[in-house]
Amino acid sequence: MTKTQSIHKAVIPAAGLGTRFLPVTKSMPKEMLPIIDKPVIHYVVEEAVNSGIDDIIIITGRGKRAIEDYFDAAPELEMRLKDQHKDATLKRLKEISDFPTIHYVRQKEPNGLGDALLKAENHIGNEPFAVLLGDDIISNRKPCTAQLMSVYSRFNASVISIEHVPREKVCHYGIIKGNEIEPDLIRIEDIVEKPSPEKAPSDMGAVGRYIFVPEIFDCLKNTDPGVGNEIQLTDAIHLLLRDHPVYAYKFEGKRYDTGDKMGYIETIIDFALRDPELRDNLRKFLSDRLCQD
Ligand code: UTP
Repeated sequence: MTKTQSIHKAVIPAAGLGTRFLPVTKSMPKEMLPIIDKPVIHYVVEEAVNSGIDDIIIITGRGKRAIEDYFDAAPELEMRLKDQHKDATLKRLKEISDFPTIHYVRQKEPNGLGDALLKAENHIGNEPFAVLLGDDIISNRKPCTAQLMSVYSRFNASVISIEHVPREKVCHYGIIKGNEIEPDLIRIEDIVEKPSPEKAPSDMGAVGRYIFVPEIFDCLKNTDPGVGNEIQLTDAIHLLLRDHPVYAYKFEGKRYDTGDKMGYIETIIDFALRDPELRDNLRKFLSDRLCQD
């Protein structure tokens, strides 16, 4: 067995159209939707960094400039805050410019998640890497990406995060089939994109975190457009399985799908309920509001 390479690069695809959030996503990336005072993608980058990633590439596209501006330094704003002695705010702003350098590459057409990933091939080269979807927040003390890295380092193989999804929602996910080899860890036999509930091989759906061996790029290149006429990452994983083991891990933590309206509302409420400045007032507001209904 070849020596396990450590993972220090991550790809964050953020070039999707966000049609579920139109019209706001007409002029604003869904990855920039605010969770109180930080955009969704801030939490995604933070998870990567807290997992030990020091090289991040974000896949962007038309109308996604706000992402680059957000992660850029803001010297004039910092100077003004300093003059006004707004030290706490300044510190929060500096946390952003202290993130490792972020690289950007554009996906010219939103031809699917698989196509977006292919745009990172030159930057990633011949090494294993992490993928974190730009609109999924996963909250846990040990970051989900770090949990996947632990599995990767044991098996020297690709690993994807999964969770149980309600039967009626399997048609929105890549659904796996496989054998549980130890609690929470499955060796994947097959994966299908967006099956109907009747055809789904299980109720275990792939969610927004992955570790891949670099061979995934060849699989992506050999993947024809699938569901929605897009290059589906799930179909490339199906090809990868022919010659390479792929594992699925039931991660610890709570996943928030902020690309979905209800998921977005749940995220804001949960994050506000955890915030000492907002918690008490929000609780009161919610209980008064619910009593009125
Ligand atoms: P989604 O399927 O949730 O994104 O992709 P979408 O297509 O923008 O959403 P809807 O269904 O139209 O509302 C998950 C992640 O992959 C990125 C998205 O930006 C999101 O972060 N993505 C998706 C790309 O980078 N390129 C694509 O072509 C598609």
